[in-house]
Amino acid sequence: MFNTVKTLIESRISTGRYDASRPVSDEAVTELVRLATRAPSAYNFQNWKFITVRSPEAKARLQAVSYGQRQVVDAPVTFIICGTLAAYEGLPQALQPALDAGILQQATVDGWVAQAKDNHVANPQLQRDEAMRSASLAAMTLMFAAQGMGLSTGAMSGFDPAGVAQEFGLADHEIPVILITAGYPAEGNWPQKPRKALDEVMVLA
Ligand SMILES: Cc1cc2nc3c(=O)[nH]c(=O)nc-3n(C[C@H](O)[C@H](O)[C@H](O)COP(=O)(O)O)c2cc1C
Repeated sequence: MFNTVKTLIESRISTGRYDASRPVSDEAVTELVRLATRAPSAYNFQNWKFITVRSPEAKARLQAVSYGQRQVVDAPVTFIICGTLAAYEGLPQALQPALDAGILQQATVDGWVAQAKDNHVANPQLQRDEAMRSASLAAMTLMFAAQGMGLSTGAMSGFDPAGVAQEFGLADHEIPVILITAGYPAEGNWPQKPRKALDEVMVLA
């Protein structure tokens, strides 16, 4: 098990060149979103949204607001992963299944809902931070899920958030956090690039 995960982590590359002739099935796209939603989020907010861009028309609109980056057209699917603000408002509904399953008790749910409201209502920065955290964790989960299904992915922040929001009808409380392209790689992608030495980034405390 560890070896499988380690292999996925070490073999993942940021794919820019896709084999446009190899499609990804509807089932695979749905399964990727399902697995991405297994990512953790604060209080189990699940404050995310996944827009699956697959039609030539939608791809062209996305490319126009992604600085013309070609991979959003060549990849069979690009996920626009959004984080949502004011997540505390939807928390009771988000936690209901855990309550029904007996995983959380009513007192715990009530405590979390009250605490989230207290902390988030007057703190737009925290709302945004949590939106970015949730969407980013979901994005990474989706990337490894794709890798495990034999697909390759690429993360992208090279897009105009206002343009994406307008083109894809996002509400004011929905922030486009990251794009993830996915599909089968073509020739010519870089291998995974070397990372900084651990002693530059790791601190023992
Ligand atoms: C948040 C984020 C934004 C990125 N934006 C872009 C992008 O807009 N276009 C692009 O070609 N690559 C983009 N990349 C890919 C990075 O360049 C790539 O992950 C990095 O060079 C490391 O590559 P590797 O993991 O294959 O070694 C992005 C990656 C991340 C994590």
